[in-house]
Amino acid sequence: MYNIQMLNKIAKVGTDNLDPAKYTLGTEMDNPDAILVRSAVMHDMELGSNLKAIARAGAGVNNIPVDACTEKGIVVFNTPGANANGVKEMTLCALFLAARNVVGGIEWAKGLTGDDVAKQVEKGKSAFAGTELKGKTLGVIGLGAIGGMVANVAVHLGMKVIGCDPFLSVEGAWNLNHHVVKAATYDEIFEKADYITLHVPATKDTKGMINATTIATMKDGVRLINLSRADLVNAADVAEAMKSGKMAAYVTDFPTAEVLEIPGVVAIPHLGASTEESEDNCAVMAALELDDYLTNGNIKNSVNFPPASMPRSGDCRICLFNANVPEIITAVTKIVGEGGRNIENMMNKSRGNVAYTIMDVIGDIDDATVAQLEAIEGVFGVRVIK
Ligand code: MLT
Repeated sequence: MYNIQMLNKIAKVGTDNLDPAKYTLGTEMDNPDAILVRSAVMHDMELGSNLKAIARAGAGVNNIPVDACTEKGIVVFNTPGANANGVKEMTLCALFLAARNVVGGIEWAKGLTGDDVAKQVEKGKSAFAGTELKGKTLGVIGLGAIGGMVANVAVHLGMKVIGCDPFLSVEGAWNLNHHVVKAATYDEIFEKADYITLHVPATKDTKGMINATTIATMKDGVRLINLSRADLVNAADVAEAMKSGKMAAYVTDFPTAEVLEIPGVVAIPHLGASTEESEDNCAVMAALELDDYLTNGNIKNSVNFPPASMPRSGDCRICLFNANVPEIITAVTKIVGEGGRNIENMMNKSRGNVAYTIMDVIGDIDDATVAQLEAIEGVFGVRVIK
């Protein structure tokens, strides 16, 4: 029986995949085996001794202490693509809101009173005139599941689309409309785009990528959309650019105090993936990932360990987390092979400086053998699934 703690509300259609005969679900739990999380910030949470996996119902994992998890052999999963359509649709909404002062106009209209509202509307509307997207250049930073779809739709809106993604996958490239032009660098996008939309995760390389220096290279009147992560943008620098008129519009899903009151800023309370469909898709994917890992040790869509899946065979399965260095597998197979045990099947996958090994064994693996495996230099986690 495994205990799974839910730190946020997770759609029932997802948790329904977790068989109550195998899993106990709860919101308050001491030392759970796994955690299901959406946006709760986990950086100050204790990672309990039982904790084996964390599944994020969403793409970004900046609310999870991933490095600390890796050191402890805790597998962190996310749900790439599961909410991409929801965020794509919100990005299109953001593009329209950046082009037309619909939000300002709605706010103004709410304050109208009297019998001649229709007259006041016609008189006052010119203050809220906007521009059209057709013919403008959209720069898409990050052409993954979301950015790729945004780029393709923008082509159909009549925009000139340039995109840049140093990590573009082959599949991502195949899915791009051939009118999407490759920009060699983010700088090229900053220089050429009338609209810029961000679709990259917050990493040490992308944090603060929109700042006073990069904004200075952008076109006057540039319009920026950030539905990805707060940290990509230096909010104080964007506030300055909005106040000076350098930037004509800023639509963000991550408002902070610096930008809230500035005219032209559209502040959305992180609603990009908040649709029934996206929440359901993420919950299902996260629950299935946890189930396969807790039951079989199989890893799919982890952000800190390599993908590794193998059908079950033998009497028990050993799952090993180790440093990606020579000699470890030799030492492991020697110990496992003692006492007449036979390794039926095995898989070893690495990712950067960590590796994950699955080994199906005929024979039993007792606590003493686990202790021997744990004592191998470079091994930092051993699980036996019977
Ligand atoms: C994501 O990273 O995919 C979103 O932030 C998900 C969410 O809104 O929870």
